[in-house]
Amino acid sequence: MLLLTLLGLLPFILALPSNFQEQQPFYLNGHHDGKGNTPRKINPLKHLSAISPFYIPTEKPTPLPKGCELDRVSLLIRHSSIMGNDDEFEETMKPFIEKIANIDRSKLPQKGKWKFLNDWQCPISDDTLEVVSPQGKKDAKFLGKYIRDQYSPLFPSKKKTSVKKDKNKTPYKVWTASSTRDIDTAKSYIKGGFPSHQSGDDGEGDGEVVQLVKVPNKAKDWDRSLTPHKACDTFDKKPSLEPANKWLSVYAPKVIERLRGEIPELAEELNDQDILAMQMLCGYESIAVGHSEFCHLFTDEEWLDVEYYFDVRFHYMMGYGSPLSPYLGMPWAKTAKHLLAGKDTKGDGEHTPNQDDGTLGTYKKGGKLPEPKLPPNATHTQLLHPSFTHRESPAFVAVFLNLFNSSEHAHPSSETPPLDHRVDDRAWRTSHLVSFLGHVALERFHQNHKHKQQDYVRAVVNGRAEKMSGCEDGLDGSCKWETFDKWIDERAQRWGDWESVCEKSD
Ligand SMILES: *[C@@H]1O[C@H](CO)[C@@H](O)[C@H](O)[C@H]1NC(C)=O
Ligand SMILES: *[C@@H]1O[C@H](CO)[C@@H](O)[C@H](O)[C@H]1NC(C)=O
Repeated sequence: MLLLTLLGLLPFILALPSNFQEQQPFYLNGHHDGKGNTPRKINPLKHLSAISPFYIPTEKPTPLPKGCELDRVSLLIRHSSIMGNDDEFEETMKPFIEKIANIDRSKLPQKGKWKFLNDWQCPISDDTLEVVSPQGKKDAKFLGKYIRDQYSPLFPSKKKTSVKKDKNKTPYKVWTASSTRDIDTAKSYIKGGFPSHQSGDDGEGDGEVVQLVKVPNKAKDWDRSLTPHKACDTFDKKPSLEPANKWLSVYAPKVIERLRGEIPELAEELNDQDILAMQMLCGYESIAVGHSEFCHLFTDEEWLDVEYYFDVRFHYMMGYGSPLSPYLGMPWAKTAKHLLAGKDTKGDGEHTPNQDDGTLGTYKKGGKLPEPKLPPNATHTQLLHPSFTHRESPAFVAVFLNLFNSSEHAHPSSETPPLDHRVDDRAWRTSHLVSFLGHVALERFHQNHKHKQQDYVRAVVNGRAEKMSGCEDGLDGSCKWETFDKWIDERAQRWGDWESVCEKSD
């Protein structure tokens, strides 16, 4: 029995490089329920899309092509695990939680894996919604270490500066959208990625070497590069619920049907939204307290069905199914290109003397985060540019960069998802893109040839290199810098008329 359990876990353990095994959230390190039930093949927490706790990378990041060296990186990162999302709570989880609280107790199962409902206390409540969980902070700290390991030559030196404060030196900036969950994530990331004499007491940076900078969420004159959807009046999350619920009405009744055989009295009370609620609670309860009985109530097929629910929803809300997506992905991609183009550095990882961006001096120790005077798309002389934001942005950027949309895929991401059956070999997998701390990197690197240097760019999503279809003339599916430069400009022109698509006509 023990051996069987171990064998069941083996593929999962093997998939993780050794240093990740210890540091990944513990609730992701196994998928047996400890009660002798058959081990599942899949871990539901890796199939919950935007509710999946941080779990990627589960494999080593795709190495650079042979003989290449990294020059600059722009990173767009979703915030870490939160205790609950407002809309999902109001619309789906709360009605279920209230139903269970008020149900005729005789209808609750008295044995088996549903018994816990008799004295279940929901750890999610109105007042902790949208708050980064303690595990979420640990995860973000881990990401800071991981990014430092991966890109250490692009970071400022860890050494304490012995010389007097160099007024002309611009601090290394970490940008964050202005919601508390983004700021908290960025602070934990800074604590993980920098030594304590640089990270500041609370992760706001020491103001000299490192500085956390807040980008106002709705400011339209900020080139909108972190939260463009919040400045776009026509962006609307609601319509995507319709196709998603259509798919829900295909799979959820089958779950209820199965439950009629297991827990007939309770099954009688459940509707489709309750099935979705319980599957969401598996994620949020695990985030809040480290485990959830709800994760043991459904079959592998049913978890894959809810994953498809989210993929359908996000296809229309922030993927290839929304005509707004490339417009809203454009600002960050353009900014990233500008930053990757960079200014010459001395080549030893040290920054060139300041292009004064005016932010130094607004910093006060222990005070509020500085509101920078120049937008993220100004010229900054650092080599790695991290930005923290919301789930929508990595998805928009994926569309603008034409990721997961190659005609080599059996079902590229721009294909309309059928709503009467699940497509398993689809390229659009939001669990891989917008899980908590999900991130998209654009990496500029070079290879030295005999007499000249050739520069390239590649896109990397959660550690895995992905093709930008139409910009793939470089090594190992990457893109030559000159091609990338033109390609981004062409696409920015095609999807650049922000105002016209974002203005509400009434
Ligand atoms: C930065 O964004 C502003 C506003 O969209 C734009 O006018 C400006 O040209 C951009 N600068 C660069 C260097 O891309
Ligand atoms: C996705 O691929 C299709 C087919 O090649 C193409 O027509 C479409 O323009 C692509 N979408 C984007 C946003 O580039």
